[in-house]
Amino acid sequence: MYPIEDAIYTCPKCGALIEATYEGLALDAAATKRRWRERRMSNAPLDQSGVWRYRELLGFVDTARHSAVTLREGNTPLLNAPRAAAYGGLDALVFKHQGFNPTGSFKDNGMTCGATQGLRLGMKKVACVSTGNTSASMAAYAAAAGMTPIIFLPHGNISYGKLAQALEYGALTLQVEANFDQILALVRVLAEKTGIYLLNSVNPFRIEGQKTIMVEMLDQREWSVPDWVVVPGGNLGNISAFGKGFRELRAMGFIEKLPRFAVIQAAGSAPFEKYWKERGEFEAVREPETLATAIRIGDPVSWPKAIQVVDESNGVVEKVTEQEIADAKAVVGQCGIGCEPASAATLAGIRKLVSAGVMKRDADVVAILTGNVLKDPDYIYKYHTGQLKTPAGAAITATFGNEPVVVPNDAARIAEIVARHGEA
Ligand code: F0G
Repeated sequence: MYPIEDAIYTCPKCGALIEATYEGLALDAAATKRRWRERRMSNAPLDQSGVWRYRELLGFVDTARHSAVTLREGNTPLLNAPRAAAYGGLDALVFKHQGFNPTGSFKDNGMTCGATQGLRLGMKKVACVSTGNTSASMAAYAAAAGMTPIIFLPHGNISYGKLAQALEYGALTLQVEANFDQILALVRVLAEKTGIYLLNSVNPFRIEGQKTIMVEMLDQREWSVPDWVVVPGGNLGNISAFGKGFRELRAMGFIEKLPRFAVIQAAGSAPFEKYWKERGEFEAVREPETLATAIRIGDPVSWPKAIQVVDESNGVVEKVTEQEIADAKAVVGQCGIGCEPASAATLAGIRKLVSAGVMKRDADVVAILTGNVLKDPDYIYKYHTGQLKTPAGAAITATFGNEPVVVPNDAARIAEIVARHGEA
């Protein structure tokens, strides 16, 4: 056990990632659920945050004494998606869309807590390695808190939407010629040497924030636990956080059971899927590849926690191809919802799991869309115009392609095209 004010990420004795624990935490479930519901009516900033509304579960910081850095994160909707359900082979499907967050991804749920802890420790500079979303989020929260954000990115392998956010929020943005895993190893050494505060998901307070995604989901569902929660897996921080959230809620009697978790990886970056199937030694993928750059990770730091969560929930891990991700993403778009490529791995995974009989057609399924559709417009344009290629250079079929149509400045011609549109 280490004091909550130590800036450490791994146990010096065993090397495992540090986790926040609260000794003797006991809440009256019914009264606390009521209090959380009442806070939705409040205009107080912390009550308006879909993370800090659940602050009884975030006991690492006393928000009466320390200010929390909030951009009103969380509050993300549950969206019914019949078209996606049909595509996946389910009777019904609900997306919890984390792309509705202030910087457009689930990272904001964690970052509000990480940045709050950074501020409370008096940190001036905060850093992260990122496939894009963590950096966008950290830049925003650090800027809001008056700390200096320093960002390390794999050069050439993040989407412009995310890079643009980091620049706009004023981060020192270092594009390293290495992949995510290599840069994370580098930055962990750098943080130790320089004392810069690390806000990757190795930071235990990020995980604390992300666990509230599940708390909010349950609150929105009147505390009914779904059969399945489906989530894309990269560095595996999110699935670790979700498991922790459920574990704590069950221990305190807020819910009685766990959902089954399904973690979906991109086939070119799927070390966890391999490990889950084969067990034995965990083997990193040295050269991870996928167009879903958010999950282009070959050596996920949180795999030991993640496997525990998957196993205790009787969960599964699946992998999906570039073509499957691309088509699923277009289907999410056709629902009027939209998401970034990594998020669409969920629907692609559901389709595979239903057709394999693992997931039943009438199951109660919540899939997490982790990032906003505008994070990666380049991918969208290429898909719909038939120009998208896998990292190995193979063409991706635009199964649900929707090309823009160039027209002359001619009202009659345009009227003709519009009239013909949508007719068989
Ligand atoms: N989906 C999106 C949109 C992400 O940005 C990430 C991770 C994941 C899924 C995977 O989540 O790592 O908790 O398993 N993005 C990180 C980043 C690595 O740097 O933004 P995970």
